[in-house]
Amino acid sequence: MSSETPEYQAARAYQDEKLARRYDHTRYKQDKKRQLRDKKTKQAILKAIRRLDGVEEVLDLPCGTGRFSRLLMDAGYEYTGCDISQQMIDVAIEKVGEAEKDRFVQANAEQLPFEDNSFDCVVCVRFLGRIPPGPRLTILKELHRVSRKYLLTATGYFQKSTPLNERIGRRFPDLFPKAAKKAQRHDELRRELTEAGWTDHFWLPYKSRGPISTTKMIGAFHKGEL
Ligand SMILES: C[S@@+](CC[C@H](N)C(=O)[O-])C[C@H]1O[C@@H](n2cnc3c(N)ncnc32)[C@H](O)[C@@H]1O
Repeated sequence: MSSETPEYQAARAYQDEKLARRYDHTRYKQDKKRQLRDKKTKQAILKAIRRLDGVEEVLDLPCGTGRFSRLLMDAGYEYTGCDISQQMIDVAIEKVGEAEKDRFVQANAEQLPFEDNSFDCVVCVRFLGRIPPGPRLTILKELHRVSRKYLLTATGYFQKSTPLNERIGRRFPDLFPKAAKKAQRHDELRRELTEAGWTDHFWLPYKSRGPISTTKMIGAFHKGEL
């Protein structure tokens, strides 16, 4: 692990070969529920990105073990995957094949080795909710710098977005502390996105467990001026 690695857990935990090798199995493969969730997320990412105009070059950050690499390459996008963990990237390269290894870049999202406006869209899944607010704002600004147009993101913080959950959480925080906390985190991340220069483009709900339970959302944001 380099001395440049940030202190927060998400930046350190995945720099571990054993974890990287088990990641797909434990997160996406070990039972039917996880397989279905993974399938739905992939379908939703593809649906969302196809709704965006003029997207050719895509940065998948963090790419992890290449969950979306083959999907986005096969859909015709000019793909770049980036992650702070070389161990996760190594698994991704094994999955897509050595011929594609130059598409992967190991880097810290707080300081990306890409020129301004290098990509039409950044895809950012299962990441922002794991990063503490300070570095997260830096990352959102960095994504804004390297993207020409769009950010697509799916995070646990956007999971609670059913109208009822949102309302009861905000109105009765003492009675529903869990919903209130989720609503608060959701609002916090929305504020940071705005501060980093991202404006709402559309929201795509893609998984619902009922009217008072959670719906997952993909947020599509448009690059605005800072
Ligand atoms: C939960 S995984 C998500 C990976 C992938 N997007 C997915 O959906 O499976 C989080 C990833 O974030 C990466 N990560 C954490 N901090 C990072 C940072 N500061 N810069 C770049 N990648 C980072 C980790 O190495 C890990 O691969």
